[in-house]
Amino acid sequence: MCGIVAVTGYKKALPLLINGLEKLEYRGYDSAGIAVINSESKSIVCNKSEGKLKNLISNLVDTDIPGTVGIGHTRWATHGKPEVKNAHPHIDNSGQVAVVQNGIIENYQELKIKLEKEGVVFNSDTDTEVIPHLIQKELFALSKLNLENNGSTLLVAVRNVISDLEGSYALAVLWAGAPDSLVVARRHAPLIIGLGEGEFICASDTPAISNFTKIILPLEDDEIALLTPLGIEIYDSDNERQYRNPIPLQITEQVLDKKHFRHYMLKEIYDQPETAKNWLEKYLIKDSKTGQFDIKYSFDTTFFESIERIEIVACGTSKHAAMVGSFLLEQFSGIPTNVFYASEFRYSPPPLLPNTLTIGVTQSGETADTIAAINMEIKRRSAIGDAKYKPNLVAITNRIESSIGRQITNIIDIGAGIEIGVAATKTFFAQLLSFYGLAIKFSQIKGSQSEKNIRQLISELTKLPPLVEELLEKHNQSSEKLAHDFFNIKDVIFLGRGINYPIALEGALKLKEISYIHAAGYPAGEMKHGPIALLDKKVPVISIATPGEVFDKVISNAQEAKARDSYLIGVAPECKGTEIFDYLMTIPSTNEWISPLLAIVPLQLLSYHIAAHRGLDVDQPRNLAKSVTVE
Ligand code: M6R
Repeated sequence: MCGIVAVTGYKKALPLLINGLEKLEYRGYDSAGIAVINSESKSIVCNKSEGKLKNLISNLVDTDIPGTVGIGHTRWATHGKPEVKNAHPHIDNSGQVAVVQNGIIENYQELKIKLEKEGVVFNSDTDTEVIPHLIQKELFALSKLNLENNGSTLLVAVRNVISDLEGSYALAVLWAGAPDSLVVARRHAPLIIGLGEGEFICASDTPAISNFTKIILPLEDDEIALLTPLGIEIYDSDNERQYRNPIPLQITEQVLDKKHFRHYMLKEIYDQPETAKNWLEKYLIKDSKTGQFDIKYSFDTTFFESIERIEIVACGTSKHAAMVGSFLLEQFSGIPTNVFYASEFRYSPPPLLPNTLTIGVTQSGETADTIAAINMEIKRRSAIGDAKYKPNLVAITNRIESSIGRQITNIIDIGAGIEIGVAATKTFFAQLLSFYGLAIKFSQIKGSQSEKNIRQLISELTKLPPLVEELLEKHNQSSEKLAHDFFNIKDVIFLGRGINYPIALEGALKLKEISYIHAAGYPAGEMKHGPIALLDKKVPVISIATPGEVFDKVISNAQEAKARDSYLIGVAPECKGTEIFDYLMTIPSTNEWISPLLAIVPLQLLSYHIAAHRGLDVDQPRNLAKSVTVE
């Protein structure tokens, strides 16, 4: 989603801003812009462009702006189309104030109407534009108090303005009247200050900072900060100055290298054997004396003993991982578990029950709905004041330095390494592994599975790296060929049952996200209750059929589709029953519990090749963002 970069220091701002924006490109955006205070003319120079960052860079190719203070932005449209006029920065009518913002200003309409009545002219359709106009108005009012033109005055003006804003924001503000100063503020949207030598870079996400410094000061909610080359002043919402130590930027890998792959997504699909290997090494610890395996977390899991039920909140792909997790936690570990769309949970939470573990799953750690759902749960549970109802929290994330990582102590780091492709692949795989870990842990604590069964599951998991490697070898080229047959396809149905129903949902989501083909996933047994009406020879059906309790049922459901002339693709082992498929994407015949970790791989490859064959922007699909920081 939108990205912010802002700098103040002694080096030229423009190259630093462009470099920072390049590092945020992976988040998904539709326009970009920068504003720098020209240190000679003391005026703001602003440049914006529609589309990719390269358009902005080519606008600026022979431009040398003498100035060390600037702001930059990549925009993902919410209010107003992706056009130059709606790109950030937004400037007030005097040209003195420039603002970039992430988030949504919910009361912008009423603020805009008021400003227009006062004669302010709006040049965009955005919610953001009210902010520079309001700041300019405030600066004008402050000028009557004979305050000096400096960063402190800008700080007061911004603070007065944000107290009138409703919604969420991370923002960075420049004022030509204070040419060495930058004011930044946040509410429910991430913003991190990186501390360099004599300069500061502020950004909405760590990759924009990591080349610059490894020392950061994340801004907390409702804080505002003044940054000048001389230092930082941070204030909370009560205007109390905050003093705290910077922390190291905890990033294990920032390699934005595609290697020999055409797209990051394909590279990340190929990273999965390594993801499995890393997970096994990090979490599966063998006791040298007993030879027993244990799952090792960085936090004390004693409280798991009192847990009687689990609720999981997540969005998108993370929700699909949570659904597999819920299956494992209920069916393998015997703990009643419910999964909720975080966005639904916020407004219709279930009645509170005692001894509940709440798990938030978010690869980015910044998804606004997931963070808000967790916060709401903390609030309503804490309000009861009964130990049985207290919030017990765990977050599963790939970004321990993210908002959720800083907020929740019990973090399960999925350790997949940064994922650049907007469509989640290896992070989904790593989230699944985290749920296998939890299911094993809970089974051991609750004694809900025999040691033999637990040992068997662990042994299957240890075989994953070579199995996934084989799948990649086997399916990459064949999916590329199969992708040709999807050129004119408009709808695809994915079917799965039991533990693989969420894999059908994830297969469908992957295909829609990057190829723009309509796809829907269903529990195979539900097809005859409605979706079957869609089937004919133009609608292929992809069916996940793994040996186990529901195998025969899935095969019969596939028969029903075949009878309606659908082209049938099976994701299944070569075994009796699978001859029904017109095309078989074979997976190894393993224990059904681990089948989701295998079934997802050919589906990821097929989606990738269909999108690549259509010549689409696989890594940054239209309208999508890597981290969705608005509601
Ligand atoms: O960062 P999160 O895991 O919280 O993101 C949740 C969804 O926005 C995300 O999974 C989305 O569905 C992706 N585009 C999946 O490919």
